[in-house]
Amino acid sequence: MTAMGHDMAEAGRGAGAGEMGIFAKRKGEGPLLQVAGLRKHYGARIGCTDVSFDLWPGEVLGIVGESGSGKSTLLSCLAGHLAPDAGQVLFQTADGMQDTLAMAEPARRRLMRTDWAFVHQHARDGLRMGVSAGGNVGERLMAVGARHYGQIRGAATDWLQKVEISADRIDDRPSQFSGGMQQRLQIARNLVTGPRLVFMDEPTGGLDVSVQARLLDLLRGLVREMGLSVIIVTHDLAVVRLLADRLMVMKSGRVVEQGLTDQVLDDPQHGYTQLLVSSVLQV
Ligand SMILES: Nc1ncnc2c1ncn2[C@@H]1O[C@H](COP(=O)(O)OP(=O)(O)OP(=O)(O)O)[C@@H](O)[C@H]1O
Ligand SMILES: [Mg+2]
Repeated sequence: MTAMGHDMAEAGRGAGAGEMGIFAKRKGEGPLLQVAGLRKHYGARIGCTDVSFDLWPGEVLGIVGESGSGKSTLLSCLAGHLAPDAGQVLFQTADGMQDTLAMAEPARRRLMRTDWAFVHQHARDGLRMGVSAGGNVGERLMAVGARHYGQIRGAATDWLQKVEISADRIDDRPSQFSGGMQQRLQIARNLVTGPRLVFMDEPTGGLDVSVQARLLDLLRGLVREMGLSVIIVTHDLAVVRLLADRLMVMKSGRVVEQGLTDQVLDDPQHGYTQLLVSSVLQV
């Protein structure tokens, strides 16, 4: 495992151990997630390949790249939604680093209910549309053992307020909410259990620009307040500029550059990143 960390091929200029060490030193603990040699092909087509990185506690990692570059494939493999063809995804648990790909299914499911959370691009993929807003939030709490109705409802009310949904909407179903409200509800449902690692796939995609901006502000506040570790996929550089400490740039399934967000965006080394930043490729 230690060898793996050192052996990881850092693509591009590779913001390596030195920069990531900032987080290690500050927190006084090892990486939360260690990924090595991750690969997923769809038949002959590359989904993602040769992806290696460490994520430190409290760190926000942005994954950017054009459409089809492998961002969602990578995130799905990391989060255990998709089985990769090769590689390791090690997660820090009370019993040390555990290979989440080799874990027994019940243990992996427990991880997804407790330490991990996943915010989908389309809120309806991450919500139960037939259940009330309060039920959506409460359900996650019940999945980790909460049983007291009053406390569950109280926590749900608190979380609705945190994501700026009025408490009197608690019994409404998500289908009665706007797109932005649904996305905020999905975030409340995911964060109510205090996960240690949150995966997000284009959480602001598909929303109006003004709604996006408010959601981003809210997300940034929650991430900082809760000290969350986040892996966020987006093709919007403004999103990573605001949220991400570190950035990975993907092209054709490969990581072509990674480093501290400001460095990568202000002084891109790889030709593709330069194009991305110069907004030639931005939609
Ligand atoms: N289920 C699938 N079957 C076959 N090929 C797939 C499948 N899902 C993704 N791919 C292919 O894998 C590559 C990476 O796709 P992926 O969805 O990971 O890209 P992305 O970076 O998330 O794109 P976008 O920004 O459009 O969401 C693409 O060539 C895509 O066609
Ligand atoms: Mg995608």
